[in-house]
Amino acid sequence: MTRDGDAVAGLVESLTRAEKLDLVRGAVDPEGTATGYVPGVERLGIPELRLVDGPLGVRIPGESATAFPAPIAAGATFDPELARRKGAAMAREARAKNQDVLLAPGLNLIRVPNCGRNFEYYAEDPELTGAMAAAAVDGIQSDGVVATPKHFVANSQETGRARVSAEVSERALRELYLPGFRAAVEAGAGAVMTAYNRVNGTYMSEHRRLVTEVLKEEWEFDGVVMSDWYGTESTVDAATAGLDLEMPGIPQQEMAGPGGGGDDVESGGGDGESGGGDAVDLGPIADGLPDPENYDRFGAALGDAIDAGEVPAERLDDMVARILGQMKRFGVLDGEREAPTVDAEAHDSLATEIATRGTVLLENDGGLPLSDDADVALIGPNVDEATLGGGGSSETTPREATSTAAGVRDRAAGSVTVERGVPRIESPSFFELLAGEEGGEEAGEEDVDFDDAVDAAAAADVAVVVVRDSTTEAADREDLRLPGEQDELVEAVAAAAEQTIVAVRSSGPVELPWREEVDAILETWYPGQVDGEALARVLYGDADPGGRLPVTVAPEGEYPATEPRQYPGVDDRAHYDEGVFVGYRHFDAADAAPTYPFGHGESYAAFEYGDATVEDGVARVDVENVADRAGREVVQAYVRPPETGVERPERELAGFAAVEVEAGDSKTVEIELSEMAFARYDEDAGWTVDEGTYEIEIGRSSRDVRSRVDVRR
Ligand code: NOJ
Repeated sequence: MTRDGDAVAGLVESLTRAEKLDLVRGAVDPEGTATGYVPGVERLGIPELRLVDGPLGVRIPGESATAFPAPIAAGATFDPELARRKGAAMAREARAKNQDVLLAPGLNLIRVPNCGRNFEYYAEDPELTGAMAAAAVDGIQSDGVVATPKHFVANSQETGRARVSAEVSERALRELYLPGFRAAVEAGAGAVMTAYNRVNGTYMSEHRRLVTEVLKEEWEFDGVVMSDWYGTESTVDAATAGLDLEMPGIPQQEMAGPGGGGDDVESGGGDGESGGGDAVDLGPIADGLPDPENYDRFGAALGDAIDAGEVPAERLDDMVARILGQMKRFGVLDGEREAPTVDAEAHDSLATEIATRGTVLLENDGGLPLSDDADVALIGPNVDEATLGGGGSSETTPREATSTAAGVRDRAAGSVTVERGVPRIESPSFFELLAGEEGGEEAGEEDVDFDDAVDAAAAADVAVVVVRDSTTEAADREDLRLPGEQDELVEAVAAAAEQTIVAVRSSGPVELPWREEVDAILETWYPGQVDGEALARVLYGDADPGGRLPVTVAPEGEYPATEPRQYPGVDDRAHYDEGVFVGYRHFDAADAAPTYPFGHGESYAAFEYGDATVEDGVARVDVENVADRAGREVVQAYVRPPETGVERPERELAGFAAVEVEAGDSKTVEIELSEMAFARYDEDAGWTVDEGTYEIEIGRSSRDVRSRVDVRR
């Protein structure tokens, strides 16, 4: 045993049963800062442990932090280094606020475009997800904070998320839904959060096979498995399945902080009878909330279960050792951690870098970049604010935010006329809904005039229309259309303006019915506090919009899980009948042309590819920037397997590399191809690499191949 292991084992031995039980059951933070809290044991010098949300920034009630671009924007950068730097920055901010564990990264694979939390995840592809998640874990932990990849596993929808069972094959789990978690674990993640949902009938908090056999035994994960909030479904089953920490272990109304909110909430997952008080109307999130009765599963109840011989006493020791083990590893146990200083400006620049590099130029008929002195009509219902994110546990209060209008005004040398055109698109605050607060009346709605916006567009050199969707945790999007009258606004502006550029702020794919009528379209996801600044940099060409699509964009009906039994499920079961054919794997198999394929994104520069080679598991290709400006290219390598009689995706992403190339320059790009890139999961034989000739496709997207190389396996 290591010295750390000795120290932890010594503590476990010294703890009383009651003290151990307190260490595995989250409580409310007496300081009111943390999202989750584990009390310390003063007698033995064990400090408290504070856990905080979440993937977009550090969420502490009443305090601000850098509100970073949403993870899907990071996914679109195809640049794990940015995820690593963002992780490190968030960890620094967390530690400066006395927090020890970050409830991030979120890395569920994007299965359905409607999922309300897609913005918190990276991609529809496991290779991209895994690379980003591993880098995020590494970044978070490099700055002394425990990372918590979540939600393990198959949390693909918010509708009925606390009841639904993902009926999914072992092959799809292994090939699509598990690899991101495996990559995060291999990167050394100190904690993992279980999902609310069930998998093949069993709640994830009680899923012994996936939690103990796969995560802990097969992947040798020696960290902490915690439940999602009110997601511990039982005492004995959860404890014996391998859950180590119940979160948060207190009634939902106490989550408001010391003193608590006091009101009961009626959740779709429970019976709503949580002990008196008037139920609050939760609107759209009602169906996605966990059962408020789910607390105190690991308190005294766990002690009783041990006494009754239903849970081995060693299991409690193991839970405690895992928690103390991570506290030791990150210096929490020894009180070695000093609060770091936060360079807010550096974090702001990092956020801008992620937002610009994650911006995907879907289409450009030459309208972009804008000339500095163009007279611009900036139009959109929410241009007077920054688009921070969707609702839910990831809501971050920005330190300071640049609205779209402020950012564009600041950069433009020509005139900028600002018109909202249609009423503001509300982004519901999850916490206001939970507290039973109605969204307040927005000031200034009387200034909103559709015709004024169209007139401004007609009078300007160029109209920039900024549109957005509206999403929240605990609810899915009903459809992929832009809410309100935004489509009508874009259409009217496009008909009146000389040139129309559309910037979309969304959690994932949205339908773009006017796309043939406009001159350029930018998918900017949720850019966070640097909204206006990042958009201005891209619009005026200070930065190449370097993003590529981490999700396929297509009309809603063409995605794979379109039958109700697949999504949102029937009788609380969502059948993953599409198997491994999710995202571009589906569009390839169906021979369907998506609106914009996975991996797609234009650049202000132009690139030519040489002939690729593959040697010793490394693909190499020369990429030349033939434009007269610098640009950023994302070179993608896909593997096409040979015909073997087993149904497989036509192509799968095997690796990628993002490079900056100066005008006229050429760079040799190297992409490592792991052996797993050739493997498929066979339910009897496990991971299998079939013999045969595989084609490596090197190109700009899943549908834009520039060079091909055959390799034998
Ligand atoms: C529920 C969410 O699913 C999870 O992602 C989050 O970390 C916890 N709530 C705590 O806020």
